[in-house]
Amino acid sequence: MCGIVGYIGPQTASPLIVSGLKRLEYRGYDSAGVCIVDGDSLTIHKQAGKVADLERVVDLSAIRGTLGVGHTRWATHGLPNDVNAHPHTDNDDAIAMVHNGIIENYLTIKKKLENAGYTFRSETDSEVLAVFIGMLYKTIGDLERAVQTALQEVEGTFGIVVVSTHDPNLMIAARRGSPLILGVGQDEFVVASDAAAIIAHTRQVVYLQENEMATITRQGFTTKTIANEATHSVVEEIAFELEEIEKGGFEHFMLKEIYEQPVTFHDGFRGRLRVDEGNVRLGGLSKVQDRLRSAQRIIITACGTSWHAALVGEYLIENLARIPVEVEYASEFRYRNPIIYPNDIVIAISQSGETADTLAAIREAKMKGATVLGMVNVVGSSIARETDAGVYLHAGPEIGVASTKAFTSQLCILTQFALFLGRMRDLPAEAGRTLAQGIAEIPDKIRQILDQSDAIKEIAMTFAQAPNVLYLGRGYQFPVALEGALKLKEISYIHAEGYPAAEMKHGPIALIDENMPVVFIATKDEIYDKVISNIEEVRARRGRVIAIASEGDTQIDRVADHVIRIPETQAMLAPILASIPLQLLAYYIAVERGCNVDMPRNLAKSVTVE
Ligand code: M6R
Repeated sequence: MCGIVGYIGPQTASPLIVSGLKRLEYRGYDSAGVCIVDGDSLTIHKQAGKVADLERVVDLSAIRGTLGVGHTRWATHGLPNDVNAHPHTDNDDAIAMVHNGIIENYLTIKKKLENAGYTFRSETDSEVLAVFIGMLYKTIGDLERAVQTALQEVEGTFGIVVVSTHDPNLMIAARRGSPLILGVGQDEFVVASDAAAIIAHTRQVVYLQENEMATITRQGFTTKTIANEATHSVVEEIAFELEEIEKGGFEHFMLKEIYEQPVTFHDGFRGRLRVDEGNVRLGGLSKVQDRLRSAQRIIITACGTSWHAALVGEYLIENLARIPVEVEYASEFRYRNPIIYPNDIVIAISQSGETADTLAAIREAKMKGATVLGMVNVVGSSIARETDAGVYLHAGPEIGVASTKAFTSQLCILTQFALFLGRMRDLPAEAGRTLAQGIAEIPDKIRQILDQSDAIKEIAMTFAQAPNVLYLGRGYQFPVALEGALKLKEISYIHAEGYPAAEMKHGPIALIDENMPVVFIATKDEIYDKVISNIEEVRARRGRVIAIASEGDTQIDRVADHVIRIPETQAMLAPILASIPLQLLAYYIAVERGCNVDMPRNLAKSVTVE
C-alpha cells in the first residue's frame, strides 16, 4: 500500500528515487511523484498513473539536488488523480511529505487548520498532516520537533518521510503501522517502505520500530520514539539478492514466480525435513515447543491467498495432530471479540508480514494471552517481529501482486508444521516417514507440471473470454478451488467463484449452462467418486468441464472436456500440485485478455490499511 523512497547523500537524488519507486510499484500504482530539495526550493513532479507515465512527461533525471522523496500511491482518501498524488506540501511550499497509511482523525485536524486560515488543494488525509507539520514549524522552528508534535496528535497509521527547504541537510522518517526501513550506506541514507528499493545501494538496514522516528542528516542518523524516548537501532543485513527482484528474462514477475516454485518449495523444507525420522525440525519454534505440546486449540488467521493456505492447514493439522483448528479472516477476528483460552495457539500466515488486518488480529490475540506464531515470508517484517515465534517461508521476494510461490511455500510450512505436531502426539513414525518422503518428492512433480505449460495455455484459450467461471473441489482441494478462483478474478477480471463441489447443488448449479466453464479439481483420493458425480451433474446441464486430474486417471476423459494431469501424490499434498495449473490458467487468460498481470487494477501487493 503505497511505496515510499527518501534519499540524502552525495548523489543526485532523483534517478535513485525513481529507480527505487519502480521497485516499489507493486505496493500501489495509482499515481507517482517526486520532490527534490535544491537550495531554497522544492521541485515537485507528480501525476496519476505509473512511474513510467510520469517519466514520459518529465525528464526526472535532469532534476538536480541530493535530498528528496518519492511516492507511488494506492488511493485511500481521494481519487487517484494528479492533485491527490504525493508528495504533499505545507501551505508555504517549504515542507514536503510522502505518506503510507491512513490518518484517521484528519477531519478534526483539518477543521482546526481551516479555522486558523490554512487551505488544502487535495482530498487526501496526507495533505492535512503536511499542512499540520507546516503550521507547527512556524511556532516551533524545528522540523524534527514539528513532525514529532504533529505525530503525537495523529490517530491512525503512517510511514512518512519529510524534507524541507528549511534544512536541505535533513530528512525525517517515522512509522506507526506502516513499514519503513532505513538503508545505511557510505555517507548516504535511503529510507523506503521495502528493502527492494534499498538493496541496489546498500545491504545494511535498520528496520524502524512501531512508533519510532529517525532524524537523518548527511553525517548520520538518530532514532527515538514519537513519544520522545531514546531507542537503540540495530543494523541488519538484507536477506535476499538483487537478482531475486529482477524479472530474469520472464515477461512478468508472476510467471517467473510460478516457475520458481520447484526451488522455493524445496527451500521451505531444506534443513528442516528429516525423511528418515519421519519428522521435521523447526528451529524457530523450539522456544514454544512445550506450549505446542499442550495446545488444545489452534486458531489460524490470515487474509486472501494466505487464508486459503490456512484452510488447507486446518485439514492437515486436524488430520495429523488431532488438534481442533479454527480458521479466521483476520479482518473479522479482531472486531468480533474472539474467545481466546490461555493455552490457545494463534498462527498468523502472511507473505508480506505487513498486512494490517493480520497484524491487528495478532495484537488482539496477544493482548488476550495467546501464544502467537507467524508463518511469514518477508524477513524482519512487522508480523515476524511481533509474534512470539515462527517459521519463515523462505520463498524469496514475491513481486507479482497475485500470490503464487508464497502460497505453495505456505502449504510446505503448514504440512511440516502438522507433521511436527502429529509426531509430538501420536502420529506413528512410519506415517511420518511416508509424508516426509512425499514432501521431498514435490519439487520434481512441480517441474513435471510446469513442463506442460503449453498444453495448459491451449486450454486457457478455450475459456479466456468467458464472463464467469466456477471452481469446484472437495476435501483438501476445496481451498484450492477458492484459490484458483481468486487468482483468475484478481488478474483477468473474470468473475470467478470457488465452492466445495457438493455445495454446487445447493445454489450455484442454477448458473450452469453451456456458457459456464467449471474447473474441477478431481484428483484421486477417497472422495474422487463423489467428485465424478458432481462433474456428471454439471455435464447434465451442458456446463463445460476442465478437470485437474491425477496422472493415469482414464475415467476422467469420459466426463471432462479438457483434462490437465498432475503427478500422483498423497491426498494431503495434492493441493500443492493442483494449485500450479490453476496459477498458469489464470496467468495465460489474463495475458490473452491484455491485462496487466503484475499490477492488476485496484490492488496492491501489501495491504497495510485496515
Ligand atoms: O501478505 P499477505 O499474505 O498477508 O497478503 C494477504 C492478501 O492480501 C494476499 O494474499 C492477496 O489476497 C493476494 N493478492 C492474493 O493473490
